[in-house]
Amino acid sequence: MTAQSSTPRVALVTGTRSGIGEAVVRHFREQGHQVLAVDFNPEGEAIAERAGAAFFQADLTDGEACKAAVADALSRFGRLDILVNNAGIQHVSSIEEFPEAQWRRIIDLMLTAPFLLTQAAWPSMRENGWGRIVNVASIHAQVASPGKAAYISAKHGLIGLTKTAALEGGSQGITANALCPAYVKTPLVENQIADQAKLNRMDEQEVVEQIMLKNAAVKRLIDPGEVASLVGYLASDAAGAVTGASWNIDLGWTAQ
Ligand SMILES: NC(=O)c1ccc[n+]([C@@H]2O[C@H](COP(=O)([O-])OP(=O)(O)OC[C@H]3O[C@@H](n4cnc5c(N)ncnc54)[C@H](O)[C@@H]3O)[C@@H](O)[C@H]2O)c1
Repeated sequence: MTAQSSTPRVALVTGTRSGIGEAVVRHFREQGHQVLAVDFNPEGEAIAERAGAAFFQADLTDGEACKAAVADALSRFGRLDILVNNAGIQHVSSIEEFPEAQWRRIIDLMLTAPFLLTQAAWPSMRENGWGRIVNVASIHAQVASPGKAAYISAKHGLIGLTKTAALEGGSQGITANALCPAYVKTPLVENQIADQAKLNRMDEQEVVEQIMLKNAAVKRLIDPGEVASLVGYLASDAAGAVTGASWNIDLGWTAQ
């Protein structure tokens, strides 16, 4: 797959301190795009700087911070062409014991923030007749697993937002697509391995083999760079006919 975009663009990427977001920022910079990296963790600044990206610190559970992040991109670069909604967190607990505050934080960050960022980015994309919205969902936007009610609900909702944005953006040059990865080797998954081990009374190796890779045809975790390449394609000129889609990158999980 070629991930080259013919034109340098301006991109805003969320959740760039580590993992997939960090890899997407690097990938976009290699393609010559200008990038605003957005994260609530101040350590994200040095990571963005190393990649040659600008940084904006924002807790995206706060709606005003979402709007401020887009405003910062527009004032720095004068336009916004690509939005990658990637920031995410996880909390593993049964529905019976799921803390309400965790439920609200996960929905705010992983469903409401992508909506508000999309809304704020839309006028610039519409005015330029070109926009790419890439939502990092999950294979848990397609299937469920026990212990992740809020995450799975947010990710299923993100697919609905993606499809609606695709329909509304079609006549304006704006595409919207979601990406559905299975387990990627990032801090989010490393923390989950420990949580799942506790929840299921297993050791960590058993969690990886018996839970995370149970349904995988390819028996390994995904590298963040593999996900970044797919984001790069969906954000490129070449992907202009692709919209409203959910792209699985799931090691064959849903093939059965
Ligand atoms: N790792 C996986 O296996 C996997 C699989 C499918 C989907 N995903 C999705 O990929 C995305 C990235 O996850 P990752 O695995 O790279 O995890 P990660 O923990 O490495 O990265 C998440 C980023 O989000 C940032 N973040 C967290 N809360 C924030 C907040 N309130 N405001 C702003 N930024 C915040 C973190 O600082 C971090 O930089 C998430 O949406 C996740 O659901 C991950």
